[in-house]
Amino acid sequence: MDALTVTQHIIEQQKRFPDATGEYTGLLENIIIAAKIISREVRKAGLVEILGLTGNENVQGEEVQKLDEYANITFSNILGKGGHICIMASEESENPIFPIKGYPSGKYVVSFDPLDGSSNIDVNASIGTIFGIHRKITDCSACSIDDLLQKGTDLIGAGYIIYGSSTIMVYSAGYGTHGFTLDPSVGEFILSHENIKTPKYGSIYSVNEGNYNYWDNSIKKYIDYLKSNNNNLKKPYSARYIGSLVADFHRNLLRGGIFLYPKDNKDPNKTHGKLRLLYEAQPLAYLAEQSGGAASTGTERILDIIPTELHQRVPLIIGSRDDVRIVEEFIAREV
Ligand code: AHG
Ligand code: MN
Ligand code: MN
Repeated sequence: MDALTVTQHIIEQQKRFPDATGEYTGLLENIIIAAKIISREVRKAGLVEILGLTGNENVQGEEVQKLDEYANITFSNILGKGGHICIMASEESENPIFPIKGYPSGKYVVSFDPLDGSSNIDVNASIGTIFGIHRKITDCSACSIDDLLQKGTDLIGAGYIIYGSSTIMVYSAGYGTHGFTLDPSVGEFILSHENIKTPKYGSIYSVNEGNYNYWDNSIKKYIDYLKSNNNNLKKPYSARYIGSLVADFHRNLLRGGIFLYPKDNKDPNKTHGKLRLLYEAQPLAYLAEQSGGAASTGTERILDIIPTELHQRVPLIIGSRDDVRIVEEFIAREV
């Protein structure tokens, strides 16, 4: 099989745009380099002093792991020097990030979660990096937060890298979702999952049931329905929850199924859900839809939401199209 690298695949896709300048390809190259560096650090995390906590707290009020910080610095520096971005948003940075002083600004806007699933780092469960790409919309030379607060329907690309049993980059530029597995012996991401299509419904559900008592009734009724024999499968769904969004999402993307992080009344930080719109829900919703799946808050399509704040949270129900639709029906009945 002729091994197609992610770069060759991107260049192939670029041919659809005769007036392409190569800037977008250059940006993706920056992301790929950052991913390889983070993957290398994740793979040796247990051997060097990079596990554990930094002792700092981020804007989310969460303890920052050393690998969170390392991934954030790596991603910010490589893209900040690459000349293709004019502004970025990171889960680990309270304020927008601009190109590094002395380096050119570009026409793209990137929102990213440098390391998703941080609570899993020290126990060696899969973690990942998530990113979404928009074009800048302000005509001033320097970008502003308005360039970041764009709807998911205006994304021009999105992807994630999952550092699991292998390192896989899953990505779409609007022409299907494709997966590339890193071959460490040559340092290249090789096409391994072309044109991923998610089954229209699955047999897996992913949710933190520890929050059950704090959910709205509609979600409780839906999860009870999944565990009964009177759902669409006529047998209980299987529960799979890693606690790392990228890992739970990736499994369901390939096999079918549904992931939920609904709002809950346990924690004032989660009355709108725990997951962040710009750099978790939006990019994964883009990929889900590119793969024939769906993503909603339960009442609104994720990609239609107009962001108002960098770190705003949303309830996230994402995965197989028909499973998402059934959750929305449960919620609509309770209204
Ligand atoms: P992050 O590590 O980037 O803060 O994200 C963690 C998220 C997500 O990865 C996962 O689905 C969710 O937190 C798990 O939350 P609970 O531990 O509350 O289930
Ligand atoms: Mn995350
Ligand atoms: Mn994170």
